[in-house]
Amino acid sequence: MPGIVVVGAQWGDEGKGKVTDLLAERADAVVRFQGGNNAGHTIVRNGRTWKLHLIPSGILHSGKLCVIGNGVVIDPRVLTDELGELRRTGVDTSALRISANAHLIMPYHLMLDHAGEARLGKLQIGTTRRGIGPCYADKAARLGIRVQDLLDEKILKQKIIVALEPKRLSLRPYAKDPALDLQAMAEEYLTYGHRMESYTADTTRLVHEQLDAGAVVVFEGAQGALLDIDHGTYPFVTSSNPVAGAACIGAGVGPRDISEIWGVAKAYSTRVGAGPFPTEIDGPLADLLREHGGEYGTTTGRARRVGWLDLVALRYAARINSMTALAITKLDVLSGLDRLQICTGYRGAEGAEFDHFPYHQSVLHHATGEYVELEGWAEDIGECRSESDLPACARDYVSFISEFIGVPVVLLGVGPGRDQVIWTGASDHTAVAAEHATTAS
Ligand code: IMP
Repeated sequence: MPGIVVVGAQWGDEGKGKVTDLLAERADAVVRFQGGNNAGHTIVRNGRTWKLHLIPSGILHSGKLCVIGNGVVIDPRVLTDELGELRRTGVDTSALRISANAHLIMPYHLMLDHAGEARLGKLQIGTTRRGIGPCYADKAARLGIRVQDLLDEKILKQKIIVALEPKRLSLRPYAKDPALDLQAMAEEYLTYGHRMESYTADTTRLVHEQLDAGAVVVFEGAQGALLDIDHGTYPFVTSSNPVAGAACIGAGVGPRDISEIWGVAKAYSTRVGAGPFPTEIDGPLADLLREHGGEYGTTTGRARRVGWLDLVALRYAARINSMTALAITKLDVLSGLDRLQICTGYRGAEGAEFDHFPYHQSVLHHATGEYVELEGWAEDIGECRSESDLPACARDYVSFISEFIGVPVVLLGVGPGRDQVIWTGASDHTAVAAEHATTAS
């Protein structure tokens, strides 16, 4: 029954799409369990670039079961556009299944997200403005509209009326917006419902069937541990739980269904939106990393903030996820830097030292990184396919990370192509990785 969870170990954008895509090749099913189209995966395959926001990257492997779980919030306009685009380019989407229990992002969620950020002014979170927070808020308030509601006009209209009632005041600036017209909204959403109907299913049962039959199921997270609403840098977080435990809730399985937990981290750090970022760097070095790493949002196109690798945060992420393996992406982006800083502690505003992730918002906001300096490497590593091909300093960098956080490294990304990876041989962690290691060598 191997259930393998893939989660982001930083502030999102770690390259989970590529790792999931590689795992998906050997897996039987891929399940997305939280977040919405605030996420975006870029997958480069056969010289073609795919940008997916909602549909699991497993869809590119024809016929593989791909599930959008109950924990995901779905903007049906985005989902049906994404489906249309895949079909137009000849991708077989027939194995996609959408949870009937997943909540829908409604036009008013987008408006509320915009209005909320505007109201916060300088204190804004820097959300993707995709309506994610307001949709999860309605879910918790039991005012959400779910995929299954799209199959009945009467129920849909009734639920929209009830959901809109408490929002009247906040939505006043949009009162004349045609998107808020009940009839128009219901018609638009019924059309989406019609387009999604053949994909809609009891996905929890489908996942149980797979696991019970001994299939390999990959649970794909979005965002990252430090954006987790409970464990991240609240309130500068997303509105769901991107940690491994949420795979159970967002897919409908139990903890014992999970056998592997892969955390994905970049060889450095990035963050989009506001909030504390103790290892952030500015100036020419930041510009260089941003350009080399293509650090612009897949979803919003925003330039990402960049910084050195933060091992205090990564060790915390390893613990809250109970990570069994670490995938380090974009190691190649560091090539050419003489010296590398790696954060192993924080210093607070009053000089206090921290070797753990501070729980207190004020402490975290003023924390700066304490670094160990490691030697960099000049060589291009894009063609390396085994650890022994890597320059010694790159190997040392990777070992330092793995030892500090106490998690073995299962793969290293050395370039954007899907073949530009090194499987380290820490393959006892999963049969899937073992197979990869054999086929790659
Ligand atoms: P929201 O998820 O749109 O509500 O945004 C809340 C915070 O999470 C903001 O700082 C966003 O920039 C960040 N965020 C949401 N999704 C992603 C992602 O996929 N990658 C990186 N940051 C994200």
